[in-house]
Amino acid sequence: MKTVTCTAPVNIAVIKYWGKRDENLILPVNSSLSATLGQNELRAKTTVAADPSFTEDKMWLNNKEQSVNTQRIQNVFREIRRRARKRKGDGDKSKIFSQKIHICSENNFPTAAGLASSAAGYACLVYSLSKLFDVDGEISDIARQGSGSACRSIYGGFVEWQMGTKTDGSDSFAKQITSAQHWPEMCILILVVSDQKKHTGSTEGMQTSVQNSRLLEKRIEVVPERMTNITKAIKEKDFHTFAEITMKDSNQFHAICLDTYPPISYMTDVSRQIVRFVHSFNNHSEETKVAYTFDAGPNACLYLLEQDLGQVVSLVNHFFPAQDNGLNLKVQGLPVSIVKPSQKDIDALSLPVLPNSIKYLINTKVGEGPQILSDPSESLLTDNGHPKTLSS
Ligand code: DP6
Repeated sequence: MKTVTCTAPVNIAVIKYWGKRDENLILPVNSSLSATLGQNELRAKTTVAADPSFTEDKMWLNNKEQSVNTQRIQNVFREIRRRARKRKGDGDKSKIFSQKIHICSENNFPTAAGLASSAAGYACLVYSLSKLFDVDGEISDIARQGSGSACRSIYGGFVEWQMGTKTDGSDSFAKQITSAQHWPEMCILILVVSDQKKHTGSTEGMQTSVQNSRLLEKRIEVVPERMTNITKAIKEKDFHTFAEITMKDSNQFHAICLDTYPPISYMTDVSRQIVRFVHSFNNHSEETKVAYTFDAGPNACLYLLEQDLGQVVSLVNHFFPAQDNGLNLKVQGLPVSIVKPSQKDIDALSLPVLPNSIKYLINTKVGEGPQILSDPSESLLTDNGHPKTLSS
């Protein structure tokens, strides 16, 4: 049995992908751009194994067996096996790409809570299979066929997904813009408002938007200029421009959701209160110090610089306190100290206090792309190719 175990990161878009021009190949109507998040805080982990004794392809996700008979998974399998065959040739003795595979995958964060779990999951699956079958070269276009945003999780740092124009999708893949080390002061703070499954999935939501949102037609004209400007801002570490484009793009994406008929609303009253908080804070600072972005769910993702992290977290803790009086909000991930904010800051922001509206915070940074774990004890599968957690 040949086994490979890998991890892959989550990414959060600052220029959103919303809408497909080809549902089967997953080709988008616009290019998009994201930051890859640190894997200590958010990652998928996958073990793949191939063995001549396996009689069928099998997959377990977070301890539950899942069908592999979905169009997306089959597209991924077909494409990775095709490339392995092309590389090795049918004369290859091991023909590992002809063997059946077992896959076991888990996330260290809630699945389908608007925290881009499918992106990390498919990126991890495709990366692991590429190692299992010795496929090298571009693989982000294979991850794209699992879930569009997954192609951006194949790289670390800031990553662009070039929409491409070809009908076969061969020019629609991800490209790293800057490495994970490029902007070390950049912090990413996720305000978890809800870890429940979202009511309208992205796939279904964007399909309806493409069908009937007139605003989406307009957006497609705006994105190329935004992509150019935000790429320049990232390369030059121009936080102000980066932040402004990020917030405008998030707002436009949610405006399109409302323009979709029937309307889709991912943001809640708490999300909107976080938007108010960020604008009040920036206003009071007389400088754009924080940017928000929201995906297909109510959770906020804030981008900000290290020097402002302590002040912002302390103010978030003041205006969105944990239910239990006196207890600070829980922070997962990188450490940050919460202090009592100055009365001047509190008064200047002049916002209501909303207890129990944020569940917890995740503090992370821009991180690296997928990793291979060479220690066999990391494997999620036993020597017989069954999930370790289910075999005990
Ligand atoms: C709002 O990649 O989940 O997070 O391609 O149908 O699987 P499918 O959609 P998915 O959509 C992500 C949408 C988004 C924006 C983004 O990540 O760019």
